[in-house]
Amino acid sequence: MTVRRVEAVAPSTVGNVLCGFDALGMAVAGPEDRVVARPADAPGAVMDGIFGDGGELPTDADRNTASVAAAAVLRAAGHAGGVALELHKGLPLASGLGSSAASAAAAAVATDRLFDLGLDRDTLIRAAAEGERAACGAIHLDNIGPAIAGGLVLCRDHRVHPLPVPQDLHAVLMAVPVRSDTRRARAAVPEQLPLSQATAQWADVAAFVHALHTEDWDLLAASLTDRVAEPHRIAATPGFAAVHRAAMEAGALGAGLSGAGPAMLALCPGPETAEAVAATMTEALRTAT
Ligand code: HSE
Repeated sequence: MTVRRVEAVAPSTVGNVLCGFDALGMAVAGPEDRVVARPADAPGAVMDGIFGDGGELPTDADRNTASVAAAAVLRAAGHAGGVALELHKGLPLASGLGSSAASAAAAAVATDRLFDLGLDRDTLIRAAAEGERAACGAIHLDNIGPAIAGGLVLCRDHRVHPLPVPQDLHAVLMAVPVRSDTRRARAAVPEQLPLSQATAQWADVAAFVHALHTEDWDLLAASLTDRVAEPHRIAATPGFAAVHRAAMEAGALGAGLSGAGPAMLALCPGPETAEAVAATMTEALRTAT
């Protein structure tokens, strides 16, 4: 007898992409989470094993981002079956690299394929986002979206829209050896934003999207500011100011927190600049910590 199993992997992702809080996200090559899904006797989703998390993640199906996402997929498809999940963590926890989203995305896709449910991409993303809600208390698609759709995406009204990535645009992503709990980092973001700052921010997001389409590097660089969340979070990233300065001096178009941090992202024009920026950011972090 063949036991049916489906395996899915999901990548690291960068939320916000420096100017679009909860609205822009991108997938990056690097560490991945892997989920193995098998049919289970009882309806719903259960965790069958978690590896690589040092015993930190909940095995309770109602609290694990992977099983919550898988159960949401079954509900969305109206499927009465059950799924058992093995989660192999490749991403570091609470790092700013979209760890909970990767688990949820891989679980959602594996569950969909296991039962040939055929859910469309946005439905899968919305179901996987339930896992994100379990992890951080809120739905935001800027990690789940690119984890499933790939590339750089705009998240709007529960859908994602792929954006063009200019060939010469390079990202430097630097892990920072502290942790940041996304739930807490989100709680630090004020509910209100002065109108002048809101106006500047939505103009920047629009400018960023336009610059991607037109490959206008000056406009792109000018758009990479976060007035919404980053100012309230940088204290949790050691050496933020020094690393940011180093990245900009080495030629980055913009730099800041990756998602809720503590990891940091720099966008760069071309591979040579990216190499130089990566080296100087690493050195600045080493000196500052
Ligand atoms: N947009 C989310 C936040 C991303 O900044 O809270 C978290 O990875």
